[in-house]
Amino acid sequence: MADAVTANPTAATPKAAPTPRPATPAAAKPAAAHKEEAKAAGPSSAELSMIQAPVTRREFLNYAFLGSLGIFIVALTGATFIFALPRFGAGEFGGVFTLGLAGEVIPSTEAAPAPNSPARSWISNTEAGVIALYNVCVHLGCLYGWQEVTNRFECPCHGSKYQKDGTYIEGPAPRSLDRFVINFYDPANPDGPPIATTNATGDPLPIPSPNALMKVNTGSIIQGKPHG
Ligand code: FES
Repeated sequence: MADAVTANPTAATPKAAPTPRPATPAAAKPAAAHKEEAKAAGPSSAELSMIQAPVTRREFLNYAFLGSLGIFIVALTGATFIFALPRFGAGEFGGVFTLGLAGEVIPSTEAAPAPNSPARSWISNTEAGVIALYNVCVHLGCLYGWQEVTNRFECPCHGSKYQKDGTYIEGPAPRSLDRFVINFYDPANPDGPPIATTNATGDPLPIPSPNALMKVNTGSIIQGKPHG
């Protein structure tokens, strides 16, 4: 009698072990040879897509913004540097004038104020101190002058009158005369810190010493006090 269960021939047949393939010539090549071949073949499609990718609108705007920002920063730096420089040189109106030693350039308190044309000022000495008055009338800009007879400044245009220290007396001028800042220095240290300086309201400055070096800063104008 035949067996009820026939043995599965497939299961019974042992599987043959996979035959190892011989190494292909390509696999056997060294890595350096692969690189040479890749070079010869040129860039891959992925590389080409990276090289030829067009600049998007967003990227373009970013580049434009960064470029504009760079230009703005350079321009701002240049402008800051230029404005930091003195606008007027020494001895040029708008700059600093070195007049000399106080005892030599300041008139006595009894004498008439001394004009200084390059500095566009009158150097006027009073009992309270010295003052450098801007020689332009504060009404409409005429050049006023010192009148020995009346012992005051008078403007020829509309008749405004001022005291020796520039204080308004009468006429259409709206205020007293404007004045410049005076600095006195130790002549041994003319570029050091000043030893006396006109105050913020432009009051007459006491002379510290006849040997003090006097400078007038025509770039620093203090407006005269309004009257009435
Ligand atoms: S300009 Fe001097 S009074 Fe008019």
